[in-house]
Amino acid sequence: MTDRPRVFVARVIPDEGLDPVREACEVDLWTDELPPPRDELLRRVAGTDGLLSLLTDTVDDELLDAAGPQLKVVSNFAVGFDNIDVAACTRRGIPAGNTPGVLTETTADLAFTLLMAAARRIPEGVDYVRDGHWKTWGPMLLMGVDVHGATLGIVGFGRIGREMARRARGFGMRILYHDVHPAAPEEEAELGVRRVELDDLLRESDFVSLHVNLTDETHHLIDADALRAMKPTAVLVNTARGPVIDPEALEHALRTGEIFAAGLDVTEPEPLPADHPLVALPNCVVLPHVASASRVTRGKMAAMAAANLLAGLRGERLPTPVNPEVYE
Ligand code: GLV
Repeated sequence: MTDRPRVFVARVIPDEGLDPVREACEVDLWTDELPPPRDELLRRVAGTDGLLSLLTDTVDDELLDAAGPQLKVVSNFAVGFDNIDVAACTRRGIPAGNTPGVLTETTADLAFTLLMAAARRIPEGVDYVRDGHWKTWGPMLLMGVDVHGATLGIVGFGRIGREMARRARGFGMRILYHDVHPAAPEEEAELGVRRVELDDLLRESDFVSLHVNLTDETHHLIDADALRAMKPTAVLVNTARGPVIDPEALEHALRTGEIFAAGLDVTEPEPLPADHPLVALPNCVVLPHVASASRVTRGKMAAMAAANLLAGLRGERLPTPVNPEVYE
């Protein structure tokens, strides 16, 4: 018998997180590459004191009921937490944690990578060489759009949006942002950014990069009308959450030249099937949701997820709760 807390860890995460959890808890670890199927997840959480979840696990009333009243904490291995019904956790007095801050720069790095890859048609060029089409230097070959000196519109000016602005400054870009919360004037001056309405941002930007949380308000924020408002030379980048863009509208816009290209690290649905029309479009660069996937950053996320889990199990305040109201 043991009085160590019981936890379910919904996937193998880096040792920086697994080691401290294993040291303190009885760990049921889901070792498959794919997430636990729903019925398996509901079975495994039953009777546990803590859950270390991933963004692929839906944490809702059903799951919290299945876990039982002894559940003390939900710790999400992600900064985004749209997979968690936060209100349902709060109603039960369960703190939920996420991993903000540690992945900010890594994610902005990848957003900028996608921006450049889509602008300069990098995957098309790589395929061109691989497929044996490269016969000579071509004056008309694979012409893209310039990044330097262009206007970047950042939608959602939180931690990652701000890091995007810092990167854009290095390329001499003009930077607009849209956010319901304006940045302080000193910060706007420091970053060289200007706040505008979304319509103006879409109309004026050569690059639009999305950095909002997924909420009811941001679901399909980029719809057919938004895409029509953009320049035909514009590039759209999404490292936030897939459903912020209406995928059918995007496919139409890319196919008909309403916009020039898109770079997506997140999609709707996820995973995007290999035979999805967006995958086949040469002007759509799709990655499998890897923006925070550097070795160091994933290690930090794991350590942070473990710290939230262990704090919750000890009855201490989580270092980074998404529902601080649970402590009121
Ligand atoms: C990844 O998408 C995350 O939210 O951390």
